[in-house]
Amino acid sequence: MPRRISDDIIARINDENDIIDYVSQYVQLKKTGRDYSGLCPFHHEKTPSFHVSQDKQLFHCFGCGASGNLVQFVMRTENLDFVDAIKLLADRAGIIIPEDDGFTDDNHEKKKRILEMNKCAARFFYSCLKDKKLGEKGQQYLAKRNIPWKTITVYGLGYAPDSRDLLLKHLAANGFSVEEAADGGLAVRREGKIYDKFRGRVMFPIIDVRGNVIGFGGRVTDDVKEVNGYKIPKYLNSPETAAFDKGRNLFSLNLAKNSKESDLILCEGYMDVISVYQAGIKNIVATLGTAITENQAKLMLRYAGEILICYDSDEAGVKATLRAIDVISGAGGRSRVIKLGGAKDPDEYINKNGVEKFKEAVRKAVPSTEFRISLIKKQYDTTTTDGKIMFIDEAANVLASVKDAVEADAYITKIAEDTGISRGAVLSKYREKTSGNRHRRIPMKTEYRKQTERKERETVRKENTTPTLIAAEKRLLGLMAQSKKLYKIAEKRIKPDDFSTQVYRKLSRLIYDSYDHDNAPEPAIILNSFDSDELSEASEVFYNFEVYDGDEATVAELLNTITLEKLDIRIKNETNAAVLAELFRERQKAIEEKNTWED
Ligand code: CTP
Ligand code: MN
Repeated sequence: MPRRISDDIIARINDENDIIDYVSQYVQLKKTGRDYSGLCPFHHEKTPSFHVSQDKQLFHCFGCGASGNLVQFVMRTENLDFVDAIKLLADRAGIIIPEDDGFTDDNHEKKKRILEMNKCAARFFYSCLKDKKLGEKGQQYLAKRNIPWKTITVYGLGYAPDSRDLLLKHLAANGFSVEEAADGGLAVRREGKIYDKFRGRVMFPIIDVRGNVIGFGGRVTDDVKEVNGYKIPKYLNSPETAAFDKGRNLFSLNLAKNSKESDLILCEGYMDVISVYQAGIKNIVATLGTAITENQAKLMLRYAGEILICYDSDEAGVKATLRAIDVISGAGGRSRVIKLGGAKDPDEYINKNGVEKFKEAVRKAVPSTEFRISLIKKQYDTTTTDGKIMFIDEAANVLASVKDAVEADAYITKIAEDTGISRGAVLSKYREKTSGNRHRRIPMKTEYRKQTERKERETVRKENTTPTLIAAEKRLLGLMAQSKKLYKIAEKRIKPDDFSTQVYRKLSRLIYDSYDHDNAPEPAIILNSFDSDELSEASEVFYNFEVYDGDEATVAELLNTITLEKLDIRIKNETNAAVLAELFRERQKAIEEKNTWED
């Protein structure tokens, strides 16, 4: 991805921000050997596998594989794009970025335009709602839902009039073209024409933690579901745009993040959030019309100790709750479940029963494991022996997925007490379930190795290479990046195009380029050229422990391994006998060469 940001600025930002300093805000770092280490902020762990190198200005987690430079650390922890992360670091170091620095990339420009347009649209919707005539339906509807003006202002709610082009006209008057409106999700193209997307709807602006209006949800004001046989959705949401990533944002997190509570309530709907918020409970958010994603869970866990799931009480809500429990646990977090009896959702509950009852339900939220087990219990008649057996069998499945051994143990006792079956019997059922899954508590390093091995296998298939070849190239590139002397030796025998994966080819070009310009390659700067899906592969070249040791002999050996591996790949694919014979001769030569320095 070309980024028109001057290298000077990036270099200064790198010089004036220290990765150890910055990461220390998030992670308690301890000096261990050459590196600093601590508990990884990107996954849940009890023993530190997160390393930061001051020399290289890189971080690397041997547990989950998260890896990169300071800018990339900021991108992940602050949920920012590249340009915004650079800006944050510039601000922090007191570096002023000149406006004409070309300090943009195309996507960033597009995003900025959409955000400006959205802000303009949100103001328009708000003014329409205030308008006695234009906003009448919206006003009536919100009054019916017990939403006073105070709340309307806090959330910036609005009304999109039932018109094809009122918004488009307003946007045009403010310098936004119809094409921009369509690309930004505020208008739709139909049969060659462009219309307002939101018509006759109460509008809910979706605002990110930095206060940008990134999108909208719009609700019909009556529950008519069909017009002329055309089904009208109750809620309509902005599509994903350069500025709106539904899986990485949450409704009302901008407000919830200021709450003093340590937990965060997660519910399904915009109206749920608003009703609960205006009752004074501010630590509540909702997903954006989609199922919860891992990124959303991580985002929440940045602000919350535990996540309290408060989904609708129908069957779909229960299913979604089970899914959310999984996703949150996968993101390294803990959750509890709020149960609301006698109402279909939090909005209805709080309107019916008042805020005190809701607070009580929050206090009584059950741990997710207990919730899962209680659901299973409902399916069986545990007064009968058969019922008990089946219940314990399924409950043991749930316990087998519990990460914390103490927690699992506590439930084993509880299940034994509840059913009157001996603790020993329940425990052995649990052991039976966990024995097939011995990898459950494998050390992090092994887990990480597995993950890289899987990735390497995928690369091997795609790029006609082998794990040995990849390992050799990785180490060689690492040594070359670290020492000009070793680079000089290797560069005579291997060129960027000779490397076997796309990421390595790109990386080597950058390394060779640096030396050509008489600069030592700076890992932290070089990594800025890689997108998130390439990052880990690139970063590992600089950040693996083997790379700390290596000399001329290592380089010669690695080059030889690379030659041999490549020959083997060619031999495997060659059918022509004459060529094959030649390849074998070359191979023999390489082996002899190897033997000479092994003597
Ligand atoms: N939703 C959506 N599109 C729909 C229906 C729902 O995006 N056609 C999303 C909205 O974010 C909505 C949430 O799912 O807020 C919950 O939907 P639902 O439970 O149907 O609505 P409520 O929140 O109960 O809405 P209301 O109380 O306004 O009827
Ligand atoms: Mn509702």
